[in-house]
Amino acid sequence: MTAPEASRPAPAPGDPHPTVELKSPEPGVPAPAPAPGMAVRPDVVAFRKVTKCFGEGPDAKVAIQDVSFVVEDAPDRGELVTIVGPSGCGKSTILRTIAGLKPHFPPTSGEALVFGKPVEEPGPDRGLVDQKYSLLPHLNVLDNIAFGLRLRGMPRSERLDRAREWVKKVGLEGSERKYPSELSGGMQQRVAIAATLVLQPRILLMDEPFGALDPGIRLRMQELLIRLWNEQQGTVFLVTHSVEEAVYLGDRVFLMAANPGRLVDVLKVPRPGESPEESRRKPWFVNFCQMLLQRLEDVSGAPSELKV
Ligand SMILES: Nc1ncnc2c1ncn2[C@@H]1O[C@H](COP(=O)(O)OP(=O)(O)OP(=O)(O)O)[C@@H](O)[C@H]1O
Ligand SMILES: [Mg+2]
Repeated sequence: MTAPEASRPAPAPGDPHPTVELKSPEPGVPAPAPAPGMAVRPDVVAFRKVTKCFGEGPDAKVAIQDVSFVVEDAPDRGELVTIVGPSGCGKSTILRTIAGLKPHFPPTSGEALVFGKPVEEPGPDRGLVDQKYSLLPHLNVLDNIAFGLRLRGMPRSERLDRAREWVKKVGLEGSERKYPSELSGGMQQRVAIAATLVLQPRILLMDEPFGALDPGIRLRMQELLIRLWNEQQGTVFLVTHSVEEAVYLGDRVFLMAANPGRLVDVLKVPRPGESPEESRRKPWFVNFCQMLLQRLEDVSGAPSELKV
């Protein structure tokens, strides 16, 4: 199933954040042909009717069904896609399919393409910050962050310099020599984020990356992500249980429903040029979050567990 895109009407003068309306895409309208001589850039990620079942027979569980979407390679821009939906609707399954990680990968049917080619295995073009933010227990913070660079063959002094920069960016100065067992959940999460971002993957996959952080650090990490996204102009998929975070960070919000897991709406968000604190107080932002929460309740058939 292709999810309907939400569209925004042209802004009225003086109204930069008009109301969002849902509308189905017009079927059968072909994409415009590229101008003669222009290279065709493959889509960053494309899902074509991707279905994943775990198990077989009466015990089979459909994790996601017929999920289709496209994230285009927008030159000099990139895109940040946020994914929301009730627990068990297949959010992690989508990220891990893009990453090429078993057992979610390969799909049972359908096609998952990255840069125009079917996903076959994990690769350096994709980095996943996992929901469980697994760190290597025998390595300290600095070495955990530098580990991927080591695998890429970067000399020790250079990779430790890069890792130190990231220790600062995620606010862990003073903890460089600590081991994962000596860190709080939120600190471990920041190490996992730094260990992935230091590798500068073209596609960044983040599975509830800020869930264990206290509100102040969460805000800092959200701002950092926006800044990095602007610098690197890559593609980010971020799963969150916070509607507010989805709307603040997302260029588009993918809304999913469960049983079976499926993509039901794709909502375009006006990307705010304001600080999180400013935008969160604006009427457009609050209205958008409430509209999204309402949609979640509609597709869940019950009051949403998600909080604005
Ligand atoms: N390894 C597995 N074996 C069997 N079933 C699985 C496996 N991994 C996931 N599932 C099932 O697939 C469905 C989708 O799981 P997934 O982890 O993608 O959901 P999610 O939206 O990320 O949920 P949450 O918000 O709780 O993290 C769930 O019903 C889950 O029980
Ligand atoms: Mg999950």
